[in-house]
Amino acid sequence: MFEALPNSAAMLARREKMPVINPNKKGNPIKHPAAKGPRIFCDSAVKADIAPLLKAGLIHGITTNPTLLKKAGAKSWKEAKAIMKDLCAMLYPLPVSLELTELTEDKMVKQATELGALGKNAIIKVPMGGYPAVVDGGDPFTGLKVIRRLWEKGIKTNVTLIFNTTQALWAANAGATYISPFLGRLPDYLAKNDDPSRPSGNSLYWMGEGAQKHANSEFVASGGERRDAGPRLIFEIAQVYANYGITTEILAASIRNPVQLTECLLAGADILTVPANVLSTVADHPLSDAGMVGFLEDSKAFSK
Ligand code: G3P
Repeated sequence: MFEALPNSAAMLARREKMPVINPNKKGNPIKHPAAKGPRIFCDSAVKADIAPLLKAGLIHGITTNPTLLKKAGAKSWKEAKAIMKDLCAMLYPLPVSLELTELTEDKMVKQATELGALGKNAIIKVPMGGYPAVVDGGDPFTGLKVIRRLWEKGIKTNVTLIFNTTQALWAANAGATYISPFLGRLPDYLAKNDDPSRPSGNSLYWMGEGAQKHANSEFVASGGERRDAGPRLIFEIAQVYANYGITTEILAASIRNPVQLTECLLAGADILTVPANVLSTVADHPLSDAGMVGFLEDSKAFSK
């Protein structure tokens, strides 16, 4: 169970600098109670899933990636671009993250312009790393170089595939507008790779034995239970960003259930991107159902 850690004074001060998401309405004497609440995005490229959430005022933007575009039916780059363009128009002026698929610096910067032309609300999603894994002799700093070049051009970026705090720091230093730590994939990975002969918990975190233990940057530096790795990562990033007054927004991604959603909020995420199937359940609770049935029944006493 993720133990909620107290927000430091620096974290609270950073929040003061973050954007107002629910502005007060002119002439309305009631100030919006969640003016600086966390923004919620929908992690989907399927228009039919997004439309009801948008209409209900539940979301403030969306995030897409090649996997989600494939799920939405794209079978070619042309079709993917048509879907992305449609989504930008549907969400405008709310932000829509569109991911680069090119793998080398100049081509990525060029593709960013192509994606930017799909809508004024397009945010360019740049993978943080993984380039040597997909390009022979790939430059590990490709993503960081692209983020810096896009920042210089005044283009907003969302840096994806973030799994530790150092990646989050360097992405911010390069000029990232948002960073996307993948909350759900981290405990999945740890569950697969953890070594049962080691002490329980986040044991992969330790590389050495005895007093000479070293942090392995693959894992959450602050350790803790394996299943807490996601929210602890968010907390670590939020604390480090606060320590240095960094205003890159922490967009928690790869959320699979309402518990993880709450954990992100406790950990200090600025934005949550949530799959449509999870968002569609946010108003539900079995006790709400039972309560409604009871109230409806009792209201019959005076409904005539
Ligand atoms: O926004 C990132 C998200 O789409 C990844 O989610 O569930 O594939 O880890 P998942």
